[in-house]
Amino acid sequence: MCGIVGYVGPGSTLDVLLGGLKRLEYRGYDSAGISVIDPDLGLQTRKRAGKLQVLVDYLNESPLEDAHIGIGHTRWATHGAPTDGNAHPHLGGDGLKLSLIHNGIIENFSELKAELLAQGVNFSSETDSEVAAHLVARAYDETKDLKAAFVSVVNRLHGAFTLLCIHEDYQDLILAARRNSPLVIGLGDNENFLGSDVAAFVEHTKRAVSVGQDQIVELRSDSVKISTFHGESVELDEFTVDWDATSASKGGWPSFMAKEIADQPQAVGDTLMGRLDSDGRVKLDEFAGLEKLSEVTRIIITACGTAAYAGEVAKYAIEKWAKIPVSVELAHEFRYRDPVIDENTLILAISQSGETMDTLMAIRYAKEQGAKVLSICNTQGATLARESDATIYTHAGPEVAVASTKAFTAQITAGLLVALSLGWLRKALPEAQLTDLGKELLKLPRQVKNVLESLDRMRNLGREYSHAKSVLFLGRNVGYPIAMEGALKLKELAYIHAEGFAAGELKHGPIALIEAGQPVIVVVPSPKGEDSLHPKVISNIQEIKARGAKVIAIAEAGDQLVAQFADEVFSIPASHPMMAAVLSVIPLQTFALELASAKGLDVDQPRNLAKSVTVE
Ligand code: G6P
Repeated sequence: MCGIVGYVGPGSTLDVLLGGLKRLEYRGYDSAGISVIDPDLGLQTRKRAGKLQVLVDYLNESPLEDAHIGIGHTRWATHGAPTDGNAHPHLGGDGLKLSLIHNGIIENFSELKAELLAQGVNFSSETDSEVAAHLVARAYDETKDLKAAFVSVVNRLHGAFTLLCIHEDYQDLILAARRNSPLVIGLGDNENFLGSDVAAFVEHTKRAVSVGQDQIVELRSDSVKISTFHGESVELDEFTVDWDATSASKGGWPSFMAKEIADQPQAVGDTLMGRLDSDGRVKLDEFAGLEKLSEVTRIIITACGTAAYAGEVAKYAIEKWAKIPVSVELAHEFRYRDPVIDENTLILAISQSGETMDTLMAIRYAKEQGAKVLSICNTQGATLARESDATIYTHAGPEVAVASTKAFTAQITAGLLVALSLGWLRKALPEAQLTDLGKELLKLPRQVKNVLESLDRMRNLGREYSHAKSVLFLGRNVGYPIAMEGALKLKELAYIHAEGFAAGELKHGPIALIEAGQPVIVVVPSPKGEDSLHPKVISNIQEIKARGAKVIAIAEAGDQLVAQFADEVFSIPASHPMMAAVLSVIPLQTFALELASAKGLDVDQPRNLAKSVTVE
């Protein structure tokens, strides 16, 4: 939550800050602000409640001279409503010469605020963040050493924070601190950048440095220094960003979400690339980071939101192909119930951003209990990757729309690769079967493309149902998490009641919701195979039809039976049942996108949400 960007160098600070905020807006979009240090006028700040565009319009009315140093913030409110006053940056000190931005929650802010109020400090916001601005400014007024002042304050704060701070007396220095919230450095030529993630500066440089827990950054145009909160210097851990800057733009699509849905053949293909040979043999070099993988007795998959549904699909595949028991745990529930973990437990954490606080807390807890952590992550330099024993990157590229689409299908793809790879490692299935599965996986990018080419009817259905008050989703086996993901997409984007159920659970309650005209989207399993659940789901369709439901079925091409009972059938290419999870979610993403668009809603930035939930 909240995006931060910083720049020092000879380029256009305003362009870097506003461009960076645009790409970080997915992290929060209820207010935005920037501060720059004008060589003549000193510290200048503009901030406004509302989306970034409101700030841009305000800058047109009340322009700033470009400068060579500045910080910017896009907010997702935690303490205090989204108002101009609560927007960041916050100023402090005599003559308000210090500016500070914050991402996270300062948990001991009440005590600190009481202390400052007792000293006569006036507050101009209700935020927790403003205390940090006043504390650093007061410490600086005493010591006249900005770094010493900053470090002394950072050591007093509890909770989660990335802080960026500039002061009029230092025209070539941004100080930053990081605890439990993300921060990445971008290295340029005589210019340097800071961002909540690499998207903030990938347009300007691909050289990046990740910042570790409890570290301080001194960023100047020609140097970068990192030290711990206690003053020990830290070596820079540089990496090259493999994201293409243009992939973080809409590229002519009406929304990022529409573009990201269309990006899925590439996201899935890039995630498979180099990991499967043409004979269907899988090789995950990343497993080298995990000792004693063959001794793992169980796997706990932990994640939040959409990533947890990708984990549910991975569970089916790992149990079937590698014969290892798996459970899937929402990270926030897992962490706080004293789960029983030992050194033979492998934690598989899944996260697009790699910064979801609950997921990070879950892996930290599991590591303390001796478990090894493998992660599936989309963002290089993310905290999750830094803290995992091994990371499999999904190469989906930057995902900007808040509602996850291409990251989800890439996560499922990576989960299937993990399952297959473990299958090889444990010799859980005959080789021929494993290579056949690998060959099926190789077909996936092409099949995804085929689905994308046939979405017109689904788009129309989304528009036709734009007045629906509620939509239900049913599925079985891997279709069950896909039904839940379809419902989540609709809740997130269209703000209507939507729920996903295991089709087998229908008669245990959900069928009571069915009345005349109730739309129900059913993810139908393939009719092929002896153990196919197809007949059971067809029976479910008949049961809900008999009670007046309008049924839209997502079914394998050539499924004759389903057409006899459903009102509408959307066909997906015939595939292995496990891979069908990837194919069948695409029409559901499209349905939600079109329905929400028809209601005139902002599909990229739905109300109240942030893409990356970096606070608990
Ligand atoms: C938020 C986003 C979801 C995402 C979830 C987990 O809720 O709105 O789209 O699935 O966080 O995010 P992660 O970055 O950990 O995958």
